[in-house]
Amino acid sequence: MKVLVTGGAGFIASHICDRLIAIGHQVIVVDNMSSGKWENLNSKVVFYNVDICDPGLASVFEQEKPRVVIHHAAQVNVNRSLQNPARDAYVNTVGSINLFQNSFRFKVEKIIYASSAAVYGEPVYLGMDEKHPANPLSFYGISKLAPEYYLHAYASLYKFKYTILRYSNVYGPRQGTEQEGGVISIFMNNFAGHEESIVFGDGTATRDFIYVADVVDANIKCLELADGDTVNISTNQQTSILDLYYQIKLLFESRLEPVFTEKRLGDIQHSYLVNSRARQILKWEPRVSLPTGLKLTALYYNDGKNSPLDAQCFRGCHLASQHHS
Ligand SMILES: NC(=O)c1ccc[n+]([C@@H]2O[C@H](COP(=O)([O-])OP(=O)(O)OC[C@H]3O[C@@H](n4cnc5c(N)ncnc54)[C@H](O)[C@@H]3O)[C@@H](O)[C@H]2O)c1
Repeated sequence: MKVLVTGGAGFIASHICDRLIAIGHQVIVVDNMSSGKWENLNSKVVFYNVDICDPGLASVFEQEKPRVVIHHAAQVNVNRSLQNPARDAYVNTVGSINLFQNSFRFKVEKIIYASSAAVYGEPVYLGMDEKHPANPLSFYGISKLAPEYYLHAYASLYKFKYTILRYSNVYGPRQGTEQEGGVISIFMNNFAGHEESIVFGDGTATRDFIYVADVVDANIKCLELADGDTVNISTNQQTSILDLYYQIKLLFESRLEPVFTEKRLGDIQHSYLVNSRARQILKWEPRVSLPTGLKLTALYYNDGKNSPLDAQCFRGCHLASQHHS
């Protein structure tokens, strides 16, 4: 089937493209390369260097007539979001509306939308399920939540299917250091370059880290399942930032200690998402444990593009021993 993937040169969606192609789908990528990388693009995709906010997006739909849209293009840089909330809203909300409008106009059958734990805001209870109130505290969270409402409205006004996936902190090969949830890639980059890492607060804050291959699995399941549903994609487990730091430090055989600095304004202390709905509706579960996912990600920092994504490939792979500090 023909699938249009927005943000397909970025971290998460480039892995989705690879999997879609591997299982025989035709893949069209729309990306403006603002944070995407050319080397992430699978050579078998048809690529359009187009902004999702651009009226010219219509001609991509007219030309390609995709059956499914998987929407990951977004402004995900947290600092940029704070400095320029209007731009954030423009790309993430207005750009999404442009995409949904074209999807409706050109008779797309289903949209899969990458939303975020950021839509929940400060937890009223832990772990947060999909019924938890959505009270985003960040401009980014607001800009990711608004398209969810637009999707509900589009689906009820006109008949098309959608699934909203709310990811916790995604990590893995190809992740940048400026995007949402980039703490693992920041620590790994620093260890690889023998540089110190900053830990905000005392490091006891916890997050729910999900490996990118598991996120890919969830998107593939959504091609057939979870119509009209909103589903958390997470591990259901909390890991403290300090625990994470020391697990990565071991992998890089480093002696560097973290540098503690003041907690950032607006940072949530604990956050993890319940994934029982995904288990039930999508028949999905996370397959990659944090220790394995961290090893696979660390391999990427050694071997770059050629490192394996899947845990099965991991057997027999070893970290090169060049990362001593
Ligand atoms: N990384 C995470 O932990 C995480 C967590 C929750 C949700 N998400 C969501 O997942 C999606 C992908 O995130 P990622 O971490 O892979 O980020 P990423 O920056 O690696 O990928 C985003 C891609 O979108 C492209 N893009 C940005 N603005 C665009 C525009 N106006 N038009 C066309 N393309 C544009 C970028 O060039 C990039 O290739 C985002 O929607 C993000 O909100 C990510």
